[in-house]
Amino acid sequence: MIYVLSGPNLRRLGIREPDVYGSDTFEDLADLCRATGRELGLHVEVRQTDDEAELVGWLHEAADGKIPVVLNPAAFTHYSYALRDAIAQRTAPLVEVHISNPAAREEFRHTSVVAAVATGTIAGFGLRSYVLALRAIAEMIEK
Ligand code: DQA
Repeated sequence: MIYVLSGPNLRRLGIREPDVYGSDTFEDLADLCRATGRELGLHVEVRQTDDEAELVGWLHEAADGKIPVVLNPAAFTHYSYALRDAIAQRTAPLVEVHISNPAAREEFRHTSVVAAVATGTIAGFGLRSYVLALRAIAEMIEK
């Protein structure tokens, strides 16, 4: 089992700034993640919330269940110490992902307050960022 968790505004993929995030919808992303999971022989549970408290709760669940996580914290990436503290409690690999490449965008996106407590970060590959993160986790779990 792997959780694929996405933060605020990501349910609006396809409608939201398509020049930055592309025209695929959140359902397309969820289908892609589940299909990748099937390929890898892993059950993928896809969730999205705009609510910081809910996301923190899911990270606690993952920590308690030793469940690996692919996490796109969206805007929380840049300022949520609550999220960082929740990730710091992780008991399994957690990969931070971004659809866009925040380093190539506005200054405020250059800081990730969660990167240092994640296993690693994959950014800038569009929806493929999630696929790469799932594959990275599958390899880590195997070892
Ligand atoms: C994002 C990048 C963040 O800066 C932004 O706030 C998002 C999406 C990405 O996937 O590229 O909401 O995490």
